Amino acid sequence: MLHNKKVLLGVTASIAAYKATYLVRLFIKAGAEVRVILTESAKDFVTPLTLSTLSKNPVYSEYFNGKTGGWNSHVELAEWADIFVIAPLSANTMAKMVQGICDNLLLATYLSARCPVFFAPAMDLEMYQKPIVQENIESLQMMGHILIPAGSGELASGLEGEGRMEEPENIIKQIEQYSIPDNSLKGKKILISAGPTREYLDPVRYISNHSSGKMGVSLAIEASRRGGEVTLVHGPIKLKTPPSVKAHPVVSADEMFEACMKYFPESDVIVMSAAVADYKPAQLAVSKIKKSDSDFSLALVKNRDILKTMGESKKEGQYLVGFALETENERENANKKLVSKKLDMIVLNSLKDEGAGFDHSTNKVTLIKRSGAMLELPLKSKSEVARDILNDICRTLI
Ligand code: CTP
Repeated sequence: MLHNKKVLLGVTASIAAYKATYLVRLFIKAGAEVRVILTESAKDFVTPLTLSTLSKNPVYSEYFNGKTGGWNSHVELAEWADIFVIAPLSANTMAKMVQGICDNLLLATYLSARCPVFFAPAMDLEMYQKPIVQENIESLQMMGHILIPAGSGELASGLEGEGRMEEPENIIKQIEQYSIPDNSLKGKKILISAGPTREYLDPVRYISNHSSGKMGVSLAIEASRRGGEVTLVHGPIKLKTPPSVKAHPVVSADEMFEACMKYFPESDVIVMSAAVADYKPAQLAVSKIKKSDSDFSLALVKNRDILKTMGESKKEGQYLVGFALETENERENANKKLVSKKLDMIVLNSLKDEGAGFDHSTNKVTLIKRSGAMLELPLKSKSEVARDILNDICRTLI
């Protein structure tokens, strides 16, 4: 898969930078053309000479080329690359990528890149486990970049644990797997809903839930990677969506209903992962509700069920998938929703499972089909769960 591919390899400061030499050799052996960008501090770990000899190309570090008086164009490098692999990726460069900081050639090239970006983090156990690092890893995935997870084992510090950059052979394998053109959803229109809704009672207060939208965004990224034309209708979420996905932001359940029903008739596959509020305040006060001496009761009215409405008007050939978040009698409740909403498949999340459900980066789901077939998946990252769900959908559609 890597034959004749133009691979841009970014190397940052980490003891694992020595593995970049093996990585270059393996890319060349696979028939790829390789160019390397080294950050200044990475030169303390691996020399430009080693990498340029192995890659048979000059190694880039600075914007300005002292010898020729010219400059190394980040735009040209980014345009040249078919894939951009950053391995090892340090915690520092990772944080800068997330924030859009661009104070060296590697980061400027990253910001200019339009090709798929793979990243292989490498750092010490404590650093790797810090919530901010995990959050940054997740943010990069949510931008559509592909994580090559760090492995476990003995670290350079002498500590044992997670944080070791994946071995070069496995990095190549994972990239090859991803590089297989996947057109399983080409020509298909995919509608996905994600995130919470907000039901306002006055201009400053609302009813909502903890949904982060991560599951829906992961599904949208994966569906568009498979060639699908993806529309993502999402409630208020912090995540940024990649340009390959058409995002339609909404706030309330009513707005989500209108947006989803607009795209529904032309959609081939519909996956409703949004946590839509079932009720909204009966009245929306024009100005802020003031406190009084007595208690306050809030009258709520039912919101329309988007998924149910779709199930009732579904045409032949449309594939409708819902989510069920349950806390008890999980399978029984999920099955009821599958039948009452006339779904082809329901994805069951149980809040009893550790690491699953709202605002986690992992999820543990069971896929239940109309036929009664069931597939229980282990705890995985939401990107991997998205892949499994779409694998199943694609297998059924073909
Ligand atoms: N859903 C929807 N519109 C609503 C409520 C839910 O489209 N107004 C969709 C969700 O996106 C999800 C599925 O229906 O795919 C199930 O949502 P869930 O909240 O688990 O079920 P409800 O039918 O609302 O039932 P309950 O809250 O009582 O479990």
